[in-house]
Amino acid sequence: MRLDKFLADTTDLTRSLAKKALHREEVSVDGQVTKNPATQVDADSEVHWLGQRLSLVGLRYLMLNKPAGVECSARQGLYPLVRDLIELPNVERLQTVGRLDVDTTGLVLLSDDGQWSHRVTSPKRRCGKVYRVSLSEPLEGAALVEAQRDFAEGILLDGEDKPTRPAELLMRTSCDAELTLYEGKYHQVKRMFAAIGNHVEALHRESVGPLTLGELAPGEWRELTREEIAAF
Ligand code: URA
Repeated sequence: MRLDKFLADTTDLTRSLAKKALHREEVSVDGQVTKNPATQVDADSEVHWLGQRLSLVGLRYLMLNKPAGVECSARQGLYPLVRDLIELPNVERLQTVGRLDVDTTGLVLLSDDGQWSHRVTSPKRRCGKVYRVSLSEPLEGAALVEAQRDFAEGILLDGEDKPTRPAELLMRTSCDAELTLYEGKYHQVKRMFAAIGNHVEALHRESVGPLTLGELAPGEWRELTREEIAAF
């Protein structure tokens, strides 16, 4: 298929706007910027427009407000799956971008674009994830200062060979914390608070990078905008 048709089929550009985008050198095919609308591409070609991967098989990017009692896993187990909340064709192609525990609520991203998912989760990209944490024990005074320093410097969790990456801890009230992580180890928030002698009673992810849930109610999902996809 011609590249200008590919662009018109996979974006909201008309064929003539697609040609203009090509002329402005906004499009690359398999890593090479191309201005030629007649370039032949197929479903295996890696076409990017303004940094966004385009695909004929329809790469999809969603955010969902995960309720408690729903699992991020791909396999049916004890709990309903995040995918069961999404009525879309071929929903099994969507993977969660990182995982939240079954009892954790909040922002989950899903996509079938593996490269994009890697960009969101790779610690090297320093994409901050903000968690709201309800603690069983108040954290204040000298213990809070020590916890903030330990989390900022990194702590060695049981069974790990490297300390956690620097994380930021703020308290909204003495039992209500806001923790920003730049990585995603297994049960990380719960293990970090356990390591300082506290216990997480409830956990909610408020944001991933620049994305927040906004008006999205628990169990609801929406597609990301082009700007949101390109923000990672
Ligand atoms: N850390 C946890 O402990 N649980 C989550 O679901 C996410 C981060």
